[in-house]
Amino acid sequence: SMNTLGSIHDLFIAIAKDAGKIMQAAEYELLVSASIKNNTSDLVTKYDKQIETMVQKKLLEAYPNFDFLGEETSKKGTKLDDKPTFVVDPIDGTLNFSKGVPNCAISLGLTLEKKAIVGVVYNPFRGDLFTAIKGRGAYWTKTCSGTKLSLPVQTPRPMENLNSCLVAVEWGNEREGANWKLRADVHKKLLTSKEEGGAMCKSVRSNGSAALNFCYVAAGMLDAFWEGGVWVWDICAGWIIVEEAGGIVASANPGDWKPTLEGRLYFPVRKADPEEQKAVVEELWATMGTF
Ligand code: IPD
Repeated sequence: SMNTLGSIHDLFIAIAKDAGKIMQAAEYELLVSASIKNNTSDLVTKYDKQIETMVQKKLLEAYPNFDFLGEETSKKGTKLDDKPTFVVDPIDGTLNFSKGVPNCAISLGLTLEKKAIVGVVYNPFRGDLFTAIKGRGAYWTKTCSGTKLSLPVQTPRPMENLNSCLVAVEWGNEREGANWKLRADVHKKLLTSKEEGGAMCKSVRSNGSAALNFCYVAAGMLDAFWEGGVWVWDICAGWIIVEEAGGIVASANPGDWKPTLEGRLYFPVRKADPEEQKAVVEELWATMGTF
């Protein structure tokens, strides 16, 4: 019910604030040492695990019948099903976190029938809190000049062409193979003129957090974000925040306007009406190729 969604939203915020305290306390230690998961770009620390354990415990204590899907505890091949499911990334932007780059966040999402319906993304290092409940809008809460602001998030006017767009592109963990090559090709094309066969945008950013990239698209800091190969916990909360802000999530695979959370290709851009964004999205798709 609507009340339940409101309670879950409030619980997400309380948990995100607790996680934020752990992240802030860890900052110094992480600047000095970090443990390595797969390679240097995919660091996992005891903090990811500590936060996920804390989050899982609190969420399942409150909602014992819900499923839980988290980055650290999910088994390979775990899939979303129709049940209400908490989808959690304890620290999105782990590499940034481990090096003290203040662009990382905890991402807490709730899905029902494989669709995101509540989302909270919190970056304790900037005090940025992005939240959304399906049908009730998206909000950005932060302290600015000593004043606590809670701003409704609305994506700005649709972009007319790619030339004026600031586009985020992320790199994931692979450093070779077809997926890596596609990322590199898209990156290059976005910075190459039409005459030279590219689809030039204004500029490209790699901020290091898929969850925050979604929120930045929602808030109009970015115009689009392209990545082939993200995980559901990276983008679940951001997805509902983009949608409630009036943005769209198209697939990174050209032609796919209606991706689902089960895929691994996401591409949020401004404005809900695909028609309004058709030109820009199709220009982007023209640079991409399938993943
Ligand atoms: C990663 C970050 C990164 C993106 C990867 C994600 P993590 O999440 O969002 O920007 O390129 O695809 O997996 O591992 O830091 O939680």
